[in-house]
Amino acid sequence: MCGIFAFTTKNGKNAAEVLMDGLMSLEYRGYDSAGIFTPESGSIKAVGAAAQLRRKIPAGFFGKSGIAHLRWATHGEPTEQNAHPHQDCSGDVWVIHNGIIENFKALKKKLETLGHTFKSATDTEVLAHLVEEHLKTEKDFTKAALLALNEVKGTYGIAMQYRGDPSRVIGARMGSPVVLGLGEGERFIASDASPILRHTRQVVFLEDGEVASITPESHTIYKLAGTKVSREAEHIDWNAEAAQRGGYDHFMLKEIMEGPEVVENTIRGRLRESEGLAKLGGLESVERDLAKMDRIIIVGCGTAYFAGLTGEYMLEEHAGIPVEVELASEFRYRNPVVNGRTIVLAISQSGETLDTLEAIREGKRRGALTLGIVNTVGSTIARETDAGVYNHAGPEIGVASTKALVSQLSALALLTTFLGRQRGMSAHEGREIARALRALPQQIQAILNTRDGIQKMAKKYKNARDFLYIGRKYNYPIAFEGALKLKEISYIHAEGCGAGEMKHGPLAMIDQKFPTLAIATSDSVYEKMASNMQEIKARKGPLIAIASEGNDEIKQLADDVMYVPKTIEMLQPILNVVPLQLFAYFFAREKGYNVDRPRNLAKSVTVE
Ligand code: AGP
Ligand code: GLU
Repeated sequence: MCGIFAFTTKNGKNAAEVLMDGLMSLEYRGYDSAGIFTPESGSIKAVGAAAQLRRKIPAGFFGKSGIAHLRWATHGEPTEQNAHPHQDCSGDVWVIHNGIIENFKALKKKLETLGHTFKSATDTEVLAHLVEEHLKTEKDFTKAALLALNEVKGTYGIAMQYRGDPSRVIGARMGSPVVLGLGEGERFIASDASPILRHTRQVVFLEDGEVASITPESHTIYKLAGTKVSREAEHIDWNAEAAQRGGYDHFMLKEIMEGPEVVENTIRGRLRESEGLAKLGGLESVERDLAKMDRIIIVGCGTAYFAGLTGEYMLEEHAGIPVEVELASEFRYRNPVVNGRTIVLAISQSGETLDTLEAIREGKRRGALTLGIVNTVGSTIARETDAGVYNHAGPEIGVASTKALVSQLSALALLTTFLGRQRGMSAHEGREIARALRALPQQIQAILNTRDGIQKMAKKYKNARDFLYIGRKYNYPIAFEGALKLKEISYIHAEGCGAGEMKHGPLAMIDQKFPTLAIATSDSVYEKMASNMQEIKARKGPLIAIASEGNDEIKQLADDVMYVPKTIEMLQPILNVVPLQLFAYFFAREKGYNVDRPRNLAKSVTVE
């Protein structure tokens, strides 16, 4: 997710200064490159964060209006060339964008046949050329922008300027947040309210499908069809940091709540439902090689490792390819059997985890084909693997990884379909997986809507000193992930355990003071889970269950139940992990700990 910020004023302020100050509060939204444009002084771009851009701005750079951007790349490496703002051929139209233009390849092809030349590898640039094309016949900037946006599929939060109408800025929202700031003789457009609050607290939050045309003393909102929308301004009393968190108390909660859109962004443009195929552009260069591979070794750390363990079940059951999952920190020191028909797949949110990076290097040294499922475009792991799949989950700020896992599991389901359809998976099965993936966002939302009940449950158990998480099959890795979430932000002892393992030792720990969280959704091993829960109940162990909606009988076994919707078994872990994330979050909040920055931990472990 990028950060956009635009400003137009008649008060004599220098827009360049206002924009650069504003970018500092949007830094959490993207920091691989930055750029600014004003009609009076033109454009400056820099690789890196806002501070790198500020250093390049010469004295005298000014404007009465302008747009500025912080990039979190999705399409096109994080280079200066790909930094926003992007321009049209004439240099008259400039755009900044947060989101993914799903049909940019088709639009780019059409525009190139009309003679447009492109400078960047981004999806965003097509927007500037689209407006330029429409300005040839529609002289009104707002109307030309509306016509252009009606051709666009995908997500956007944008701001655009046109030298022919320099005091005007066009903003538009589809799937990515956009807020207007209404000042005296000045107006703002931004990804969130944090850069606006120091100027005005009168804001209007755009809704999807709305386009705003602002000048220093006016703002008009349109539907994409061109009809005007009247919208009352709101007065917000958040501070800047609360605005960055979208009003949530912590980034971790904000990122859990982003689950639905994260799945949408991960699968966007990657499903060919009618053919039951997954189209992964990042694997096109090695597609034929992948068909010859006979084994996968997945490497990762922490949450990424548990994502890999879940992927093992998916890939073996539905793609018929042998998989083993290794802690990256172990793999690199073992003498693993790897050859030219082995895929070594790294999973990493940051793309910088040293253990995982060194594991990839070890796999390469031994002749493996290396792949990555990485969230950070242009990161070291992304650059050193032979090919890969970007998550498109946006920056994850909370140290405890939540939305990244939801995206990693969705990406693994796409990879399972991709490899499975090379290995005999039927189109019917591919379609079934695609349909189930498309249903996930609203199913996750249904779980998020039950968060008040989960908060009450966390309050009930907040004095527990130990917690056991148990699961089987697809829920086995999720039990370990649930335990990791709890231990890393509430600092209590929590461990995952295969439910079938209980009687081989862990059951000895169970008593009235030792609660267990059992992941017992209705699947192929539910009956086994139910008997494991009986074992615990017989020892008077407190029991929380995650169960499928409609399962009332489980209330005879569990003291508390968190219900989740039912999906196909291979995707059920994506739903089951959400209540575990919420439970851990509220549990740690009850303890008053710093949920976003837990003690002793870092977001990206770039050391051994
Ligand atoms: C998970 O909540 C932790 N923050 C940590 O285990 C993390 O998953 C691990 O360090 C791997 O990070 P990566 O995905 O950036 O490689
Ligand atoms: N897709 C645009 C790019 O890659 C914007 C990325 C984003 O919103 O994170 O530049």
